[in-house]
Amino acid sequence: MSKPKMTVPARSFSTDRFLFGGDYNPEQWTEDVWLEDIELMRTAGVNAVTIGVFSWSLLEPREGEYSFGWMDRIVELLHGAGIGVILATPTASPPPWFSLAHPDALPVRPDGTRLTHGSRDTYAISAPAYREACRRIARALADRYGAHPALRAWHVHNEYGTFDHSDHASTAFRAWLRRRYRTLDALNAAWYTAFWSQSYTEWEQILPPRQTQYLHNPTQSVDFKRFCSDEMLDALREQSAEIRAAGSTAPITTNFMLPTWNHLEQWSWSAELDIVSIDHYLDTLTLDGETHAAYASDLTRSWAGQHPWLLMEQSTISSPMPGWRTHKEPDRMIRNSLSYVARGSQGAMFFQWRAPAAGSEVWHGGLVSHVGADSPGHRGVQELGRILGSIAEVADPPADGPVVDADVAILWHADGWWALENEHLPSDHLDYSDAVRSTHRALWRAGIPVDFVPPTGELGGYRLVLVPSMFPLSQAQAAALAAYAENGGTVVTWFFSGIADENMHVVPGGYPGVLRELLGVRVTELHPLDPAVTITLSDGSEAGIWSERVDPAGADVVTTYDDGEVAGLPAITRHAVGAGHAWYVSTRLEQKSLDRFVADLVHDLGVRPTVAGGDEELETVRRHGRNGTYLFILNHGSVPRTLRGAGVDLVSGSVVDDAITVAPRGVAVVRESGSPAWSVDSA
Ligand code: GLA
Repeated sequence: MSKPKMTVPARSFSTDRFLFGGDYNPEQWTEDVWLEDIELMRTAGVNAVTIGVFSWSLLEPREGEYSFGWMDRIVELLHGAGIGVILATPTASPPPWFSLAHPDALPVRPDGTRLTHGSRDTYAISAPAYREACRRIARALADRYGAHPALRAWHVHNEYGTFDHSDHASTAFRAWLRRRYRTLDALNAAWYTAFWSQSYTEWEQILPPRQTQYLHNPTQSVDFKRFCSDEMLDALREQSAEIRAAGSTAPITTNFMLPTWNHLEQWSWSAELDIVSIDHYLDTLTLDGETHAAYASDLTRSWAGQHPWLLMEQSTISSPMPGWRTHKEPDRMIRNSLSYVARGSQGAMFFQWRAPAAGSEVWHGGLVSHVGADSPGHRGVQELGRILGSIAEVADPPADGPVVDADVAILWHADGWWALENEHLPSDHLDYSDAVRSTHRALWRAGIPVDFVPPTGELGGYRLVLVPSMFPLSQAQAAALAAYAENGGTVVTWFFSGIADENMHVVPGGYPGVLRELLGVRVTELHPLDPAVTITLSDGSEAGIWSERVDPAGADVVTTYDDGEVAGLPAITRHAVGAGHAWYVSTRLEQKSLDRFVADLVHDLGVRPTVAGGDEELETVRRHGRNGTYLFILNHGSVPRTLRGAGVDLVSGSVVDDAITVAPRGVAVVRESGSPAWSVDSA
């Protein structure tokens, strides 16, 4: 099979080395600290900082009155030291004067509570005054700094994501709905408003899904999320237009927050960005944090069309989430950073350069902590700077083709997540994020590179396409999966996929509606399980949350249920479709069983791991560059690991004749000689 086509055009963003640095908030410090910062940055090899993210009230202290002096000075100081500037527009945090002058531009919760200023992200995205103020400050910054030689990129806003249910939102939502449905009849049909007397006779009757007496209309809820994403994208487009109108040609990005937020439909956003960038914080202190970093990276690279992307923020502490503000060992910080870079990031950026002395995020860490530069943490930062410098040649991306080559893809779309956030599903334990993440984790454990694809994406180049819990699927999307299988692909679909169409209408005649024919099954009963219950399958697999009565209609039974209400009936089936196959997994396999299922599947399909014989403590990733391939070896364990292969380790500068030993918790990045078949000596 040929490789998949890029889903978006090549980016204008490229760097001759990896970006290293982070958010920098000089406005929190006196100028003598700035000079120390810049000296420390130079010593650590920092080459890019993001400034201005939350500086609106200092840049525009009163409406229309700008104060750029401090920013002029810091930009010049940074430039003089050879440190690039990623300039943020500060629109995520409107100043108090703005909110007091325009109370209607504060966001309203579903229950009608209007929020007040005093934190950040207090904006109503559809409020005309807010949008105008955003355009104004973006234009003022672009006029002043748009052609500055230090400018590496624009960082529009910060983590778009505040939902608003105000009257401004109602007006904009109706306009969006008119574009989507054109007629009220079409909207009434799509929203199934005959149910509970919800038929609309005027557009003005339609509201965002505000607090109501009982359950919301599920199609309205998902449409509102689709609308919010599009509305925020419009806001981004307006700022981008101002930047371009001012003549600035620097690449434009905005940072997505992963993976706890699902406020945006990332495929459509990514297609409009010059750099796709994310903020990522590990969700666990355990080794599973490494799978989390890989998950975030594979998703983001995929949103970027398999081109390089940028890790805009990570943390020097294990997680900024409440209760988890725990020290991260410098060696882990280095391996995490290289994990993102191995999977296509053009750098390792952090939140933030210097830990703040006070404020609500005083404990969120920094490349320079409260303790100062004389600390083990900062020595780790300096080592990371050295390593990123030593692997600079890897930053040059391939002239064409993906930066990481994967034979396996997972279907991903925000619609799938939004749909499972609706109330009153057959089980309260259907979790889109968990379904996708556990599938990705199983591939990570098998050492297999993974891409993500949208339901409308090009599947042709993959050997295996996995579809975890994609509840809404259109007929066209189902047909694309069927065509892929017909042409020799293998598709694996998990329960609760394709049950409904894109409007959340259940497809009648047996589950899973639009996928029945492809899968060669007809599900006639759903048997959700109590989360405390574990059931077993005939191959010894353990499963939970869900079971079903699956009637084969052409598919072969691979595994049956051993117990539960459907004991003796099919659990996993496989359907021969043209030159390929379509599998159906009708339950939620426990992670170990899922690992085994996925490992057997890829093995049988001849999909090989990056390096044979790896394990959870030894991560290997191959990144493609303009002049060759680079094997990243990350030893997460506490014993040295030896791999057989050849090349040059750029981190140590040593030639690898036929083997390399990577120290406990160490890293190597080997420019490969030819196409070596690497293997691991047993631990
Ligand atoms: C996010 C934000 C930052 C900061 C960090 C906290 O990613 O972009 O401004 O709040 O989280 O760790």
